[in-house]
Amino acid sequence: MSGEDAPAQQQNAVDQKQETKPAEEPKAEPPKTESAPAAAAEAAATPAATTAEKVPEEETFTYRALVLTGYGGYDKVKLQVKKGKPALKAGEVLVRVKACGLNFADLMARQGLYDRLPSPPVTPGMECSGVVEAVGEEVTDRKVGDRVMVLNRFGLWQEVAAVPASHTFLIPEGMSFEEAAALPVNYITAYMMLFDFGNLRPNQSVLVHAAAGGVGIAATQLCKTVKDVTVFGTASASKHETISQGGVTHAIDYRTKDYVEEVRKISPKGLDIILDPLGGSDTHKAYNLLKPMGKLITYGAANMLAGQKKNLIAVAKNWYHQFSIHTLSLIQGNKSVCGFHLGYLDGETELISQVMSTVLDLYKQGKIKPRIDSTWHLEQVGDAMRKMQERNNIGKVILTTEPMPEEEKKEEAKKEDKKEDKKKEDKKKEDKKKDDGKKEEKKDDKKKEEPKKEEKKEEEKKEEAKKEEK
Ligand SMILES: NC(=O)c1ccc[n+]([C@@H]2O[C@H](COP(=O)([O-])OP(=O)(O)OC[C@H]3O[C@@H](n4cnc5c(N)ncnc54)[C@H](OP(=O)(O)O)[C@@H]3O)[C@@H](O)[C@H]2O)c1
Repeated sequence: MSGEDAPAQQQNAVDQKQETKPAEEPKAEPPKTESAPAAAAEAAATPAATTAEKVPEEETFTYRALVLTGYGGYDKVKLQVKKGKPALKAGEVLVRVKACGLNFADLMARQGLYDRLPSPPVTPGMECSGVVEAVGEEVTDRKVGDRVMVLNRFGLWQEVAAVPASHTFLIPEGMSFEEAAALPVNYITAYMMLFDFGNLRPNQSVLVHAAAGGVGIAATQLCKTVKDVTVFGTASASKHETISQGGVTHAIDYRTKDYVEEVRKISPKGLDIILDPLGGSDTHKAYNLLKPMGKLITYGAANMLAGQKKNLIAVAKNWYHQFSIHTLSLIQGNKSVCGFHLGYLDGETELISQVMSTVLDLYKQGKIKPRIDSTWHLEQVGDAMRKMQERNNIGKVILTTEPMPEEEKKEEAKKEDKKEDKKKEDKKKEDKKKDDGKKEEKKDDKKKEEPKKEEKKEEEKKEEAKKEEK
């Protein structure tokens, strides 16, 4: 799944931005974007003209897409309407998207901390589910109407996506679109770490951080497919009951306790496998917590994320505490350190397909099942991201392309208005504080001036007296 394989309409958007890039072949008119209400109004105003002039469907076609418009807070991801049907290249299929997965990487990407997403404006989204709506030349194993899940580097948070057929996987019977959108990234990642790198075997012990998150739940379920595996799982305290029911043997509240001490109390010799999505100083802790022959698989840098916008101190801290090791220490320690990044396996279509096939078999056998935390409309993407970033999700956060009911839209608009009012109110308060501060400063200056004036008057009096004496 390389840059060239990005969804066609997404690629067009990139082309629009990098105007110097020559077109390789004649392309359909690139999709134009405009605000959702404006496009809706235009569509409503022109249906008669459209039918009379028989404008080709490729041009009248519109679809909604989420677009990262710049780096920063939640409001940087905007819902836009694009015009023009995405043109299919050979080997591609057009998918009518039903549900999309939200990943931690999308939060980092919004802050400019994820290098697998091209720079804005760009449509994020690395997994979705939907129905094949059209099939390009040379596609032999997909047909119109197939229910598929899709894994791509980016570009899937939109109502239609043109993707290579090789990036699609048939959804098994009984699996909902939400489950299908929740599966690819979390389960492929967890599976490859535990079994390809970790070589997980019976009676072993595994530390799973963020055990109530998407990858965390997938990893726990996969651990349970092997006999007598002990799972240590860190998570915020409110999630412990759920993760314990889901298979975590020892739930640890990392926010109030030292998880290394907690693990040592139960397993003094340490652990066989540690999955590290945190980075920085936690990678050091993980390495030291391994048993001889233990394996550390590092696969993220969640510690870099602190707050809605990029936090340079957190980023610097993470870099400063970056783990590195001399090979001699590694040999003497009898330990293994692995790194995993699904985003950099985008060219390994065959490998990914094999893993996906194994994961789907486990699903069919009832051994794994994605846990959906919540489902949000595209309009609510900010709230969906907030849910994950404020550590309130248990399982996967999903976006649905289902249109938002009018009533909900009104409610959402009211919420937005309230947010705006609050922002204005806060700004007023802030300005007032500043004004008051300035006034106080002026008063202080005046007070300081008073004694000086008095002194001056005294001196003048003395001068007068001296003159009179003379
Ligand atoms: N390398 C790869 O290919 C790959 C693929 C997928 C995911 N990942 C990594 O795996 C980790 C989990 O990803 P996910 O998509 O499954 O998300 P997730 O676990 O659902 O992420 C949200 C949860 O992470 C925990 N968390 C820990 N540190 C956090 C922080 N600084 N800010 C916010 N939440 C934090 C919170 O739960 P608690 O407070 O309950 O712990 C939060 O609820 C991320 O680090 C991600 O980058 C890597």
